[in-house]
Amino acid sequence: ETGLFTYDPGFVATASCRSAVTYIDGDEGVLLYRGYPIEQLAKHSSFLETSYLLMNGELPDASQFAKFEHEVTHHTMMHEAFKSFLHGFRHDAHPMAMLCGMVGSLAAFYHDDLDLEDPEQRRLAAIRLLAKVPTIAAACYRHSIGWPIRYPRNNLEYVERFLHMMFEVPSGPLQLKPVAAKALDLLFILHADHEQNASTSTVRLVGSTGANPYACVAAGVAALWGPAHGGANEAVLKMLAEIGRPEDVSKAVDRAKDKNSGFRLMGFGHRVYKNFDPRATIIREMCHKVLSELGVDDPMLEVAMRLEEAALKDEYFVQRKLYPNVDFYSGIIYKALGIPTEMFTVMFAIARTAGWVSHWLEQQTDPEAKIGRPRQIYTGAATRDYVGMDKR
Ligand code: SDX
Repeated sequence: ETGLFTYDPGFVATASCRSAVTYIDGDEGVLLYRGYPIEQLAKHSSFLETSYLLMNGELPDASQFAKFEHEVTHHTMMHEAFKSFLHGFRHDAHPMAMLCGMVGSLAAFYHDDLDLEDPEQRRLAAIRLLAKVPTIAAACYRHSIGWPIRYPRNNLEYVERFLHMMFEVPSGPLQLKPVAAKALDLLFILHADHEQNASTSTVRLVGSTGANPYACVAAGVAALWGPAHGGANEAVLKMLAEIGRPEDVSKAVDRAKDKNSGFRLMGFGHRVYKNFDPRATIIREMCHKVLSELGVDDPMLEVAMRLEEAALKDEYFVQRKLYPNVDFYSGIIYKALGIPTEMFTVMFAIARTAGWVSHWLEQQTDPEAKIGRPRQIYTGAATRDYVGMDKR
């Protein structure tokens, strides 16, 4: 009994934790952030306001939001020593490799503020992560293309500031179309949290040992990188490019049904949603709007729509309740915004940092929280005696 929901004992036994941050009903396609439907937050909120909600449990009033925005804005800078760290990476290092390393190293710069018994220091660490991950992400991109990094501009809002750090060039101001910042802000809202997904569970497992929040979020970045999780958006674009033409979609569907092919339709399926993923519905609608407002005619959109249409009609996918998930259309929008494919999962990590720090903060004040210790089914050898090398 949790007041709102009654869970059967079997479910309680498998649950990894208790949390009030996000609720998902996989059969009904429901996603609530602190009780607010994702559709309403997508329509009315901003990523920063949604981050406040996830971290604090309530929507902010005007003065609370102004204070929060001021704090985040004034923690976006990185220690100058980060530059030599960044330049130590090969230029062609995957941005997720750089992000993972650099987020984990934040603890080396802020170890004075790591008394996790102090709620103010915990809150400050969460603010620092929310503020600095976009700065680090943009710096990784700039390093990979050999451009000088751009410092965060405090006169810009969260997403605009990130886009300027990504794309502004010394030769002149960046001309940003309003739809670009709005589209990215909406994608960040949709990716901000998602209950106990693999990366968030990783953050909580690492957090349960008392590790610092920078190490926890670095572990979350590492888990998100996998193509079965956050790496799927990058894999979707590669898959669509490999399919190439709408007329080749049926071959891809057949290949995905062949167990021996090892090929899966990336961006399809979900462990919890056995109906539609509410985020995919919102992103699909936004995809058409963004491409038309940006004047982008991307043939991959046609391939994606035909693939979705074919899969949703195919018995194999219908039987297994495989629907497009959050990653299916997001990559097409990132591409239209000029974000390179290898940065797609970094985008996911920027947004999910809001969820990761919210779960970490919640865990730190949970009186029932204990060190995570998953058990196993042992399939190894029975007890046996040691045999000397000369007798083997
Ligand atoms: C995210 O957990 C979260 O909330 C994650 C996330 C978040 O916001 O944090 O929502 C973000 O990670 C979304 C998922 C992104 N990943 C992909 O799009 C990769 C492709 N999808 C699959 O790998 C898969 O669907 C998973 C990993 C998402 C879910 O896997 P499950 O629940 O473990 O399902 P399964 O592997 O047991 O598959 C069930 C059946 C199998 O066939 P049968 O053995 O029953 O015959 O469905 C088949 C699978 O072979 N199947 C697919 C498929 N996904 C599952 N067949 C073809 N294409 C696919 N994509």
